[in-house]
Amino acid sequence: LINKVLFMLNFQINKISDQFGIEVIGLDVSKNLNEKDVKVLKDLFHENHVIVFRKQNLSDEEQLSFTENFGDLEVYPEADKTKDSQKTYHVANVSLDGKHLTDKDEQVIFQKVNQRWHTDSSYRFIPSYASLLYGIEVLPDEANGGETEFVNMFKVYKALDKELKTKLEYLHMVHYYEFGRRMFPNLPPVSEFEKENIPPVSHPLIRLHPERNNDRSLFFTANAGNEIGGMTQEKGACLHKKLVDIVSASVFKYKHRWKKGDLVMWDNRCLLHRAIPYDMNKYRRVFRRTTVAGLTAIKGPCLNPEII
Ligand code: OGA
Ligand code: MN
Repeated sequence: LINKVLFMLNFQINKISDQFGIEVIGLDVSKNLNEKDVKVLKDLFHENHVIVFRKQNLSDEEQLSFTENFGDLEVYPEADKTKDSQKTYHVANVSLDGKHLTDKDEQVIFQKVNQRWHTDSSYRFIPSYASLLYGIEVLPDEANGGETEFVNMFKVYKALDKELKTKLEYLHMVHYYEFGRRMFPNLPPVSEFEKENIPPVSHPLIRLHPERNNDRSLFFTANAGNEIGGMTQEKGACLHKKLVDIVSASVFKYKHRWKKGDLVMWDNRCLLHRAIPYDMNKYRRVFRRTTVAGLTAIKGPCLNPEII
């Protein structure tokens, strides 16, 4: 696709790694895009999983309206420490009024939950489709860490050994918002509202992608649970850990080193991502995230026995 459309675009596209991902240079996404550009971007997204829009300068409203080109916004039920509105996530170790917070602050501890492999809102019955993260304050070049790392779960699935593939075939993982509190007990408890409205859900470990010929990807997260339905806690946690280790050791990765003004859009349906730790007390890091809601619940093999 890249070669096919390049000549007709008014912006430039480059690959950003051997694995996946492209950058778009020379497109100001704060301007209204025409239908043709949106269509091309959707196709490029589908094919490349990560798009980095360079050198943006976006207000909340501009980021929200660009995001809406790709679908309905995911709306969070209530504003809290990590959300500066019901539609934008404040991904930062800096308060909204600009104060650098220590790593003991709740808002900063929430960022640490992102350091485990995950997709966004996997704890929802319909997890999100895409996320758009905008780099407002980024780490200086000499700092260690602070990247966002992505892994291609189509490729991870394909590379699993046959025995493990067979074992995973019908299994589900239980995902729940409260798991973050278990890892970081200093965080305040989940609110009654969230408990009532976002109860635990289960999703298949093997995910079929209806728009991609039912291609399979491995689907689990490490920030929203480690229980596998039908297995004891101990055995489930052991299998879960094995999957985490496989992903961490995998070569199918792209690590994004942020430049100020990057707007990075990723596909939550086939990638996992995580934040790479950095010295939170030394460096400021301020991002804003908007999220495109998913359209369907996750389809696993057992829902479609004829293709097995
Ligand atoms: C997120 C997220 C990663 C990062 O905002 O959903 O996972 O590097 N962020 O901050
Ligand atoms: Mn995330």
